[in-house]
Amino acid sequence: MSNVLRLAIVDPNDNNRTQLKNMLLGMDIVWLEAECSRYEFFSDVIGQTKPDIGVVALDNNPEKALKLIEQIRDIAPDCSLLVVSSSTDGQVILKAMRSGAKEFLTQPIKVEDLIGALGRISSAKFGAGDGRNRTCHVITVCGATGGVGATSLAVNLGSILAKDEKNSVVLVDLDLALGDADVFLDTIPDYTLVDVAQNIARLDFTLLKRSLTKHSSGLYLLPRPVQLQDSSQITADDLTRVLGLLKASFTHMIIDLSKGYTPIDNVALKSARDILLVTQLDLPCLRNVVRLMLSFNEDEAIKDKVKIVINRVGLDNGSISLKKAQETIGREIFWQLPNDFKTMVEIRNNGVPLIEQAPRAGITQALVALAERLVGEGRSKDEADSNKGAKNTSTGWLNFLGGKKK
Ligand SMILES: Nc1ncnc2c1ncn2[C@@H]1O[C@H](COP(=O)(O)OP(=O)(O)O)[C@@H](O)[C@H]1O
Ligand SMILES: [Mg+2]
Repeated sequence: MSNVLRLAIVDPNDNNRTQLKNMLLGMDIVWLEAECSRYEFFSDVIGQTKPDIGVVALDNNPEKALKLIEQIRDIAPDCSLLVVSSSTDGQVILKAMRSGAKEFLTQPIKVEDLIGALGRISSAKFGAGDGRNRTCHVITVCGATGGVGATSLAVNLGSILAKDEKNSVVLVDLDLALGDADVFLDTIPDYTLVDVAQNIARLDFTLLKRSLTKHSSGLYLLPRPVQLQDSSQITADDLTRVLGLLKASFTHMIIDLSKGYTPIDNVALKSARDILLVTQLDLPCLRNVVRLMLSFNEDEAIKDKVKIVINRVGLDNGSISLKKAQETIGREIFWQLPNDFKTMVEIRNNGVPLIEQAPRAGITQALVALAERLVGEGRSKDEADSNKGAKNTSTGWLNFLGGKKK
């Protein structure tokens, strides 16, 4: 259990405690060491189990709970305290903070807030470079037009990353109408994104995990809805929460976008660390890249993440030269993938990813190198962020009180 945060909870309200427990149990980053329904017993529990984090719910008896927090601060200064309450009163928050709380979450708890709080406690406690201080690397794959190879890239990048035992990787098919990631992986899923989105209010990790299909490569898939009409049931808010849950459970998430650039796609673009914009070297594609970049550049949460990937390089169809393409786009070409029609058709028809069917092919090697570069850059960024985070921890509460949480 060296790479998880160990937790103990106290909440006399059984329902709330169970709900919080269910939320926590599905997260790979936490281990529930103990739960307790009485404030009076909790300091003993802490003394015996020595968890990294103590979660104290205030509402049942705020006075008792605040005293308990002070007591824990004195007997177990290494235990970071996370306070939960339905109150949004600044005074309550201030009292909790003065008693020794590190983080404050408002009931009903939003999973993204919980993940954020756990992440901050983890970075403050363990700093950079520790396995516990892990964030999910989100790679969103979009294309300049239909058929450029976005899904081929998403599926194969995902299965390459999943080969590494240290990684847990999920692929989300956001091409809600026509997505075909399930075909590439030759799976017939039982549940889809709609099932998860509809039940998201329950924040149920068990259901989430059951809804995912695990491929033999190790890659998990969350497929698009079966019925066309079901797509409209998924809102941008639902998707934000689904992605939040997935981020807490996986080390890598690949999102295959539709070509509609809908508000749903936009959520995935915003939540990405890297956006791979796949294009080919022909005029309609390059014109679309220019148009897409114009609108991406207007959005601070998107513009610096976009990386241009040229697919099917070497396809002899009178295509435009790389140099000319680069001039047209006015942006560095991040990666190139060779044309290999035979292998690509084969893997699609067989429903087997490149890394299994053709590990030595040039296209596979180019994708392996792309995965290494993305992961390498991601790791450096994590370390830089984590160092920054460690320096900023003392101002965490001020940020929170000012409503400007990082
Ligand atoms: N590098 C490549 N070389 C040859 N064919 C490719 C390559 N990448 C993708 N393809 C083929 O292009 C077609 C469209 O790919 P797909 O990934 O479904 O595109 P998109 O998801 O952008 O619509 C598929 O038949 C796929 O096999
Ligand atoms: Mg596709």
